[in-house]
Amino acid sequence: MPDWNPELYHRFASYRAEPVTMILARLQLGPREEIVDLGCGTGEHTVELARRTVNGHVVGIDSSPAMLERAIKLRNTLDPELRQRVEFRLADFRTLNADREYTIVFSNAALQWVSDHRAAFAAIFRALREGGRMAVQMPANENETAQLTMRRMAAEPPWSATLGAVRTPSDENVLPAAEYACLLHDIGFEQVSCFYHIFRHPMANPAEVVEFCRSTSLRRFLDRLPAAQHSEFISELTRRLEGAYGTTGPFTFTFRRLFLWGRRPVTTRGLES
Ligand SMILES: C[S@@+](CC[C@H](N)C(=O)[O-])C[C@H]1O[C@@H](n2cnc3c(N)ncnc32)[C@H](O)[C@@H]1O
Repeated sequence: MPDWNPELYHRFASYRAEPVTMILARLQLGPREEIVDLGCGTGEHTVELARRTVNGHVVGIDSSPAMLERAIKLRNTLDPELRQRVEFRLADFRTLNADREYTIVFSNAALQWVSDHRAAFAAIFRALREGGRMAVQMPANENETAQLTMRRMAAEPPWSATLGAVRTPSDENVLPAAEYACLLHDIGFEQVSCFYHIFRHPMANPAEVVEFCRSTSLRRFLDRLPAAQHSEFISELTRRLEGAYGTTGPFTFTFRRLFLWGRRPVTTRGLES
């Protein structure tokens, strides 16, 4: 898959930051946290976490060279004290093999890009020290009009020849909240809470929703189409969304996100190595 486009991703940065604001309002940080940020992207949230743990250390892990290049540029602008407490690594977080290294595992809008969430959350559990906490957010908007429409369109001719089997990351990889509650308990987490929150984003028109999705859920479709067909696919999707939302003007785009919290018990049970 081609690399991420940080500029496009940041076009709606304030909307995309809303779930992080929610997490940070709840996540009380001590002065010496050891934090890992899985799928840190361009690193703004990694840095914010470091600011909030005054003598702590935060490592951001991301597999996208383009996103990580921006994160490293951001790190270079920090004052030396903060800079030495922030680290970025180019790596696939599925290879996370840490053993009781972190007091916090944080991940915002990243885990939906990988499958096998039992393995992913078991690795997160192992990476936590006793008493360590996990705060994860993933988009779970697969049944909203935009994602439903792109999937239906891809299943129809002429697109189906190329795109028939393509699914959005949330649709393919994200489980229902109730299943995460069982899975996290099974792994050994305590103080588990799994809940949805629906964010409401004012948009100028349905074309803005397509623009919002182009850097994330739509990537899977566009990356498989020849570049010459991108504008036709986007025009057709925009036309269908105007019909589905019933407007060519301003409206509110709703976006459901799933929050997962848990803590590794001080005396561990469950998955022990
Ligand atoms: C939607 S962006 C979120 C970035 C950042 N967490 C934020 O909230 O702005 C998803 C990020 O996850 C990263 N990612 C996806 N799969 C990954 C993997 N297997 N290993 C490491 N990073 C991954 C992507 O490169 C991308 O930067």
